[in-house]
Amino acid sequence: MSFGYFDDAQKVYVITDPRTPATWINYIGTIGFGGFVDQTGGALICKGDPALNRIIKYIPQLPNGDFKGETLYIRIKVPSGYKVFSPFYVPTLDNYDRYECRVGLGYMKILSEFYGIRTEAVIFVPMNQSCEIRDICITNLTKEPIELDVIPVVEYTHFDALKQLTNADWVPQTMQSKIVEEDAGYKILTQYAFMNKESRINYFTSNYPISSFESDRKIFLGNRGYGIWKCPKSLYEDELSNYEARRGDNIGALMHHIGILESGEHKEIITQLGQAASLREVMQDIQRYRDPAIVNKAFIGLKEFWENYLSKIVVDTPDAAMNTMLNMHNPRQCYITKNWSRYLSQYQLGFGARGIGFRDSAQDVMGILGHAPEEGRELIEMLLHVQNRNGSAMHQFNPVTMEASAGDSREMEDRPKYYSDDHLWIVLAVCAYIKETGNTAFLSKQIPFYEKDKEGKPLEWGSVLEHLKRGIEFTKEDCGVHGLPLLGFADWNDTVNLPYGAESVFTANLYGTALKEMVELLRYIRDEALAQAYEECYVSMKKNVNQYCWDGKWYIRYFDHHGQKIGSNENEKGKIYANAQSWSVISGFAPYDRAAVALQSVNRILNTRNGIKLSDPGYDGYDSEKGGITTYPPGAKENGGIFLHSNPWVMMAETMLGNGDQAFAYYNQINPVLKNDVVESYECEPYCYPQNILGDEHPQFGLARNSWLSGTASWVYQASVKYILGVRPNYEGLMIDPCIPSQWKGFRMRKHFRNAVFEIDVKNPEGICKGIKQVLLDGKEIEGQIIPVLEDGKVHNVQVIMG
Ligand code: GLC
Repeated sequence: MSFGYFDDAQKVYVITDPRTPATWINYIGTIGFGGFVDQTGGALICKGDPALNRIIKYIPQLPNGDFKGETLYIRIKVPSGYKVFSPFYVPTLDNYDRYECRVGLGYMKILSEFYGIRTEAVIFVPMNQSCEIRDICITNLTKEPIELDVIPVVEYTHFDALKQLTNADWVPQTMQSKIVEEDAGYKILTQYAFMNKESRINYFTSNYPISSFESDRKIFLGNRGYGIWKCPKSLYEDELSNYEARRGDNIGALMHHIGILESGEHKEIITQLGQAASLREVMQDIQRYRDPAIVNKAFIGLKEFWENYLSKIVVDTPDAAMNTMLNMHNPRQCYITKNWSRYLSQYQLGFGARGIGFRDSAQDVMGILGHAPEEGRELIEMLLHVQNRNGSAMHQFNPVTMEASAGDSREMEDRPKYYSDDHLWIVLAVCAYIKETGNTAFLSKQIPFYEKDKEGKPLEWGSVLEHLKRGIEFTKEDCGVHGLPLLGFADWNDTVNLPYGAESVFTANLYGTALKEMVELLRYIRDEALAQAYEECYVSMKKNVNQYCWDGKWYIRYFDHHGQKIGSNENEKGKIYANAQSWSVISGFAPYDRAAVALQSVNRILNTRNGIKLSDPGYDGYDSEKGGITTYPPGAKENGGIFLHSNPWVMMAETMLGNGDQAFAYYNQINPVLKNDVVESYECEPYCYPQNILGDEHPQFGLARNSWLSGTASWVYQASVKYILGVRPNYEGLMIDPCIPSQWKGFRMRKHFRNAVFEIDVKNPEGICKGIKQVLLDGKEIEGQIIPVLEDGKVHNVQVIMG
């Protein structure tokens, strides 16, 4: 069963039934102002900081049918009074005749037909603006005239979203609303958000006369506070009470008498929800966005942004589902994760110090470098600002205040206070940025380290290159008894938190990968001495990994503080971990024979039809020595679940061994597009990757959770574009090194690269997975597989014959 379909030509996914198995969302705006909108028009909107400047109240834990943040009511005048319904289905849950929610690029468009009334609402945030627009068009589809009213509603939250839930007197005593009447007769319902030291104003208004309003939820719902969102009592009165709340649960409800809509006639109402320091500051914008033509222009502006973003890489492969992902949904998700990190979703609500994760963003950013490299660089710079002088990195930071914290390691007294992997990811990100852009000057940019003096001035600055070197040095000096990097609080796997002394095989491989990148970079910028020194570090870590970590059929994952193996055939649970296999190939540490055997073990033990499990078998029961991983039942999350982020690493490893068929089979089995028809058990959006799917040890095998904000987006995108399709930026040019399914006759890709466009046409006449016989650039054969940097602003043809 499906709940919608992909319309690639229109660049949308169309949800056709609002009762999706889980709430399905889309992002609008940016972290500057924006949030997400669900398939029933519910919304969570914030400005700047999702934890400390939340505007409307969306509690994902409530049942799906409950009002969340925002909705629209329509009421039809009938002889006995009013018939009230929501054209978004929630919260009135009426029977609809037609329902389509178009999940677009930065917008939601909900079209519905209930009781002969068609409502079309386009929901978006104009580029660089701090307001949510709902452009609503209502048409009478019946043969008779209909008299109707339109009542958009928002429910505010205290700006500190956590306090809203924990202090039920202080919070409501601060909540106040006031109506402001403009000279032109329009009304703006304002709501005061007293941020720590500044006050701000949330505003809700429209481009239509407002005959009455409500700002108090209790009055709106009625029945002495026992009214419900499904049928708010006040909507059965002619007018709302015009009450300006001085405490309580504040809402904004605006009554618009549309009057009589003749058969076929339509009316357009545009609402705006925004926040500003003062109304005066935004008055001009408010007035501008009352004009449908300006709203339309803003919508076109948004479209242009996305079209431009997506146009940088366009593919045409024999696999339709892959094309659907690679030409829209996957790069879109990469941009969303780059933007929102793990900050705000249905699952992560920006509380506490979580903010932006160093490791998460360093990986996310690699997913957008082909599309928006300079935006990527800005994020990379932010990350470098929270790197410590000793080379390690702060685990998380707040992008508004730039205050950082050591993440969860704060909470376990007896565990190390740093993560062994964070600082190494940034080496990969910086190198990927330079390969994409050629901007080696970035390496000399001075960026402060995180530590500051009493006045808040940085204690030390260093070039970007210096930051990278410190990261490498940190790991080099921080090794345990087997010469492998100490685990710290954790490595990529947040949930294995072993006492001090444990070593991480994953971090050893990540370190190896970072060293490999550094050596390549240093040779390119002609620092041969350091390149050689790093090469020696690489060789020595490679030796340690192969000497101590090979378990016969795969690599182990950790040594604990007693020197015992974890991820070994000797263990009863957690015998094998995927990351130790994929990364020993990615790092180049695994000799071919071991690499091949390790990947076969992954396939034999960890692969399922819904994806590759992170480890197997799952631990069953809490073990305080291992930490978080043992809090999950077997098959969930990091404990033997299909933690999707790690799947593309296996795909990449397979391409490195030339196994295009296997790499693509792994790609296919997690492609969300292919879940569209089995989505009842999968539950999450078929248009983006989730973070996790329950594994086959779990009774709900195949159930997905934590969609959208996952490193899966960036890595599947990289695995498919750079490794399966094999078009990879390099310092010298664009490397063409596909590793595709042998059945494919070829594929095409259009890629913008360093101020030139390449139309790449790959042919596979012999039905192989990997290997290049000939490359023609604009008709002339070139030597090797690297298209040189042309930078001439022109379009070039690249013909590639595999063989
Ligand atoms: C979550 C975290 C990420 C971590 C992963 C595995 O996705 O955001 O940083 O690597 O879990 O534990």
